[in-house]
Amino acid sequence: MKTTVITYGTFDLFHIGHLSLLNRLKSLGDELIVGVSTDEFNSIKGKKTVVPFADRIEIIRGLRCVDLAIPEEQWDQKIGDIAHHEVSIFGMGSDWEGHFDELKAYCKVVYLPRTEDVSSTHFRKTLKVLERSHIGELKQALDLISSIVERFD
Ligand code: CTP
Repeated sequence: MKTTVITYGTFDLFHIGHLSLLNRLKSLGDELIVGVSTDEFNSIKGKKTVVPFADRIEIIRGLRCVDLAIPEEQWDQKIGDIAHHEVSIFGMGSDWEGHFDELKAYCKVVYLPRTEDVSSTHFRKTLKVLERSHIGELKQALDLISSIVERFD
């Protein structure tokens, strides 16, 4: 019998931590299904991505380790997905440890170690620093500091 593994995530600014998790999940079974959070679902979660949903799911679909990518539209679709796709293993990174233990009634649940020192949130923060409006704020602060320093000249 075929072993199907499922996972969910936003996968914004796709990085090595995402790839490592997906490769390890695939190695647990024969088939890997990935639920990609839609932009509407992310706004419910209070998350705004740099890369839009259509591109994020296309990138996930293009990976060798992924057999099927589906939209993740709400928190409570997981039980239905597990039944519909006859999933044996539900897996997430260790930052979600314990969060989905109620799914143990339907399949095996695993939490794999997260890759250290890389996250989409960190990349988004770095990009924000480069935004024109933020550079304007930094320039204003610099002007203020210069004017204070000049007083002591
Ligand atoms: N993940 C991982 N290692 C990382 C980053 C993410 O294993 N360094 C895993 C998460 O645990 C999750 C999946 O990748 O199971 C998708 O995570 P996602 O939230 O999209 O990625 P993050 O980079 O953690 O994004 P954010 O910082 O916005 O939460």
